[in-house]
Amino acid sequence: MNFATLLAAVAGLGLVVHSADTSAQDLKVLCAADVQWCESMEKAFEEKSGLAIDVTRKSTGEILESVRAQKASPDIDVWWGGTGDTHLQAAAEDLLQPYQSLELQDALPWAQNFSQISGGRASGIYAGALGFAYNSAVVNSRGIRAPSCWKDLTNPDYKGLVQMPNPNSSGTAFTMLATLVQLLGEDEAFQYLAALSRNIDQFTTSGAAPVKAAARGETGIGISFIHDAVTQKLSGAPLVIVAPCEGTGYEIGAVSIIKGTRRLETAQRFVDFALSTEGQKTGASAGQNQVPSNARVALPPAAPDISLIRMVDYDFVTFGSPDQRRRLLDRFDKEVLPSANPVATQ
Ligand code: F6P
Repeated sequence: MNFATLLAAVAGLGLVVHSADTSAQDLKVLCAADVQWCESMEKAFEEKSGLAIDVTRKSTGEILESVRAQKASPDIDVWWGGTGDTHLQAAAEDLLQPYQSLELQDALPWAQNFSQISGGRASGIYAGALGFAYNSAVVNSRGIRAPSCWKDLTNPDYKGLVQMPNPNSSGTAFTMLATLVQLLGEDEAFQYLAALSRNIDQFTTSGAAPVKAAARGETGIGISFIHDAVTQKLSGAPLVIVAPCEGTGYEIGAVSIIKGTRRLETAQRFVDFALSTEGQKTGASAGQNQVPSNARVALPPAAPDISLIRMVDYDFVTFGSPDQRRRLLDRFDKEVLPSANPVATQ
């Protein structure tokens, strides 16, 4: 029987033939944590499970776009890492599969609360505060005053010397938008951002890129999560890390399963691992400095004690809503990007 006849016979039997999966891929994970953590988590889960998984790093907003685009037939199984309010926005758009891992019993109260807000569709895996860091060599060489508050960053002395991520792609920058709205009120926050944008030399895709650029001396000041600045400083960069004087916001990083996954059981195993003591320890061993959500896991030695930072009472319900996301990003594109200098938006 030739191949065409065989196919016709199979079709006649009403059987559906799937092509063999030659990728040897047991799970597809999009990861918004730092690439080093994505890679070490991939290795750790593969060793633990004996499975072959595919982990790709993207920024939080980019992952939301990919998950939306694949809604009808998802190839992504798990979204691991990235800021929790964007996971909540995906949950509200019915893109995530509910899962209550037994490992959640060890979760700290803020992570338990986050899971409840998501309707059991996303689980908190870490927390971290937003801030900025400046390169002391760059700032000193120009003889300018060091910044300690959000408002200082609009000082014309810093023109072309500040980097921040773009909130369309970056969860860090969306956290920054939400933080400023909570600190200043919405209209004042957008006036502030328009003034700040005149000093921005680049709106980066990823949230940690600004402090990485500041660490290399390519810019003066990077706005990012403080834990990412700590990681850069530990590798020897002349960074001074600032928790802004007016107060700041924070993220709850999350993990979730994509609704419609064809590998649900493996996806659940991955989430269990991400919440377990063993999985959570991969953060510190990959040089990361977020606060783990599992109460049994120690804070990485250099991690900032976020209880000492002046913090807004972050409203995850409001800023986890898709309508808020759409509206705030729209205002950012219309009111902030046009005031940026042309190089920043290239
Ligand atoms: O680099 C790690 C990290 O800051 C996480 O704590 C956070 O969830 C993620 O990056 C956000 O990345 P992005 O801003 O690129 O979406």
